[in-house]
Amino acid sequence: MQIRIVVAASENNIIGLDNELPWRLPDDLRFFKKMTLGMPVVMGRHTWESLGKALPGRLNVVISSSMNKASEEGVMVFAGLEDALDYLRGREYEEIAVIGGGQLYHSALAYTQVVYLTRVHTVLEKGTAFFPVLPAEEWKLTWEERHETDDKHVYPFTFQKWERK
Ligand SMILES: NC(=O)c1ccc[n+]([C@@H]2O[C@H](COP(=O)([O-])OP(=O)(O)OC[C@H]3O[C@@H](n4cnc5c(N)ncnc54)[C@H](OP(=O)(O)O)[C@@H]3O)[C@@H](O)[C@H]2O)c1
Repeated sequence: MQIRIVVAASENNIIGLDNELPWRLPDDLRFFKKMTLGMPVVMGRHTWESLGKALPGRLNVVISSSMNKASEEGVMVFAGLEDALDYLRGREYEEIAVIGGGQLYHSALAYTQVVYLTRVHTVLEKGTAFFPVLPAEEWKLTWEERHETDDKHVYPFTFQKWERK
């Protein structure tokens, strides 16, 4: 089972502020949907709370030691990432997506083969969640596509695909 991370991060690796996204980038949300649709999405409790509802068309897997296990349909809760991965491997999914936030990305990176990183071209002053640095000796950039600023996007950004060397 292949694991991909899907994330958007500023130049200084900020991904969240006060349990929300630090920006509104509709074309990145469209990209996120394309990169996750049809596959299980694994997220930490804070990200689950910030979404407010299950993402449709995807099994929503929440990692939390404090949440009630009996949740809504299409949502599963596991106390640890490894428990969730064991369950998903047993269901023979070819690929799953880890979708945040900062704490979960840090734990999941070691198991991850591909990172879809939207690099948002700004250096933010304030952040409360962060994406880890991808060490150059372990990761190579295999694809990228730039998106310029327009009336719906205050920052330019670049979709990037990083693969383990
Ligand atoms: N820019 C992006 O692409 C992106 C994507 C997703 C989220 N975000 C942002 O990221 C922020 C949230 O990130 P965060 O770091 O605060 O929280 P998070 O990773 O979403 O959730 C943290 C919680 O999840 C559980 N958890 C996470 N990793 C775990 C592990 N390895 N083992 C066991 N439990 C684990 C724990 O829940 P319990 O305390 O219940 O045990 C922990 O308190 C928000 O601002 C959100 O908007 C940004």
